[in-house]
Amino acid sequence: MEHSNPSPMQCNISISILILLAVFSAFSSATAETHHHQFVVQATPVKRLCRTHSIITVNGQFPGPTLLVRDGDTLVVKVINSAPYNVTLHWHGIRQMRTPWADGPEYVTQCPIQPGASYTYRFTIENQDGTLWWHAHSKWLRATVYGALIILPKLGVPYPFPEPKQDIPVLLGEWWNRDIISILRQARFTGAAPNVSDAYTINGQPGDLYKCSSQGTTKFHVKSGETVLLRIINAALNQELFFTVANHMLTVVGNDAAYNKQFTTRVVMLGPGQTTNVLLAANQPSGHYYMTASPYHSAQNAPFDNTTATAILEYESASCTSKNVSVSKPLMPIIPAYNDTATVTAYTSQIRNLGSKQGKTVPTRMDENLFFTVGLGLVNCFPGPRCQGPNNTRFAASMNNVSFLLPRRTSLLQAYYQNIPGIYTTDFPPVPPVTFDYTGNVSRALWQPRFGTKLYKLKFGSNVQIVLQDTAIVSTEDHPIHLHGYHFYVMAQGFGNFNPRRDTAGFNLVDPPLRNTINVPVGGWAVIRFVADNPGVWMMHCHIDSHLAWGLAMAFLVENGEGELQSIEPPPPDLPPC
Ligand code: C2O
Repeated sequence: MEHSNPSPMQCNISISILILLAVFSAFSSATAETHHHQFVVQATPVKRLCRTHSIITVNGQFPGPTLLVRDGDTLVVKVINSAPYNVTLHWHGIRQMRTPWADGPEYVTQCPIQPGASYTYRFTIENQDGTLWWHAHSKWLRATVYGALIILPKLGVPYPFPEPKQDIPVLLGEWWNRDIISILRQARFTGAAPNVSDAYTINGQPGDLYKCSSQGTTKFHVKSGETVLLRIINAALNQELFFTVANHMLTVVGNDAAYNKQFTTRVVMLGPGQTTNVLLAANQPSGHYYMTASPYHSAQNAPFDNTTATAILEYESASCTSKNVSVSKPLMPIIPAYNDTATVTAYTSQIRNLGSKQGKTVPTRMDENLFFTVGLGLVNCFPGPRCQGPNNTRFAASMNNVSFLLPRRTSLLQAYYQNIPGIYTTDFPPVPPVTFDYTGNVSRALWQPRFGTKLYKLKFGSNVQIVLQDTAIVSTEDHPIHLHGYHFYVMAQGFGNFNPRRDTAGFNLVDPPLRNTINVPVGGWAVIRFVADNPGVWMMHCHIDSHLAWGLAMAFLVENGEGELQSIEPPPPDLPPC
């Protein structure tokens, strides 16, 4: 069973989300509710780009089911693994206060749910609202195992903008014509870069610029004059994406479940992991307009999928009058060039936090001043089939020259909680082991990282600043860095090497964006701050899964505090064994 699109000829259109909303408010009398869901992970045959193959889905749906909750609610999701692979699910952006056991990254907070087994994720949403999402966090299964997680404000709390007429999740994805696990296996074997995708998708459909795809093209129906809320989620595995709608300006109101000061733009750019809420006013002549998802690709000499996914924004009157008339071709927007970093920078620099309950105050007195390089690397190896990277190498990636290895015997969180020795060390370097011209011409001697499972320990409540610095090793590249269990302020971003004397003066202490995933600019840096108020083991990694597989990750170990609600809860009884 797949998401069915409303028929183009249908005139009284109801978006399923609206119905859900109505049902939801009808029986939400109490302030906080508990929502029970069952997610069956299974292999499902799906036809795209002229061929059918089996993908892993949740409940046979692609994209997976939308979770709709309110701030303060509790989610209880029983995951039953009927697929032939190990799996875990991650609730991307949910803070998981004291419930790290429900966070999901395999071998970090839990062992994977094996085929035939199940695990129930249980967590409460505390002071967060906006658009988040859920996805598999095991191998590359998130290529097809993902869905929206929409958090409405608490009952009676309005949005900081007029209530939109419709609420439309727009999930951007990436499609391969082959089983994604075999693509990963092949890349792991050869050491070369993985095959690029065959298409991008919008709500699971590539759209009619691809062969055999016009039938299924996603359509969104709007009425002339109404304003709708698009909840855009970049669920693509390996690609940062531009999003545009022909002839329509987009008013950006939120990012990663934090409200921002409104601004309008023609183009939005999202790294994998990021979400952006935009208001779209249907104020154009009645007709059909393309929405597009197209690549932003900043690495040099690296192959990528240079295609464009489309969906169609259809004005209701246009669909009604066109009954027997062949529908005119939708209008195409102007799409930025794949390497248009100037557009990305101009867009990003406009995002400012609106300030809210989430806002609190920006930490100023720092307890931890960390500086992490983020980038690729190459491992020299013996020429042969397992050494097919550039010049007989294998690709790798690292933070501060440590290429992250997941443990196998148990998860990091269990090892910490149960004092199991030999699983990890806590000597992740606070600064790069060697200082060099990070974005300049880097000596080959510095291209090969070390491998390890190194954590960085944080005292409960400490104020943490991290400079994330891209490197020119192999190639500079924009990296979407995601921190689990937290959101953070983005104090500043820039190009070249971070220079504390020059760049600290430019920190935004007034209205810095609050995010869970930050794009570190290509050949540049970003500075983030957060208060370590959530104990547990929290991964920080590049959300481009090919980079994650190469080791572009680390984890924080945040110790318990002294107070009553400052310790992690005990593990649930059904926590999967390794
Ligand atoms: Cu959305 Cu560790 O991931």
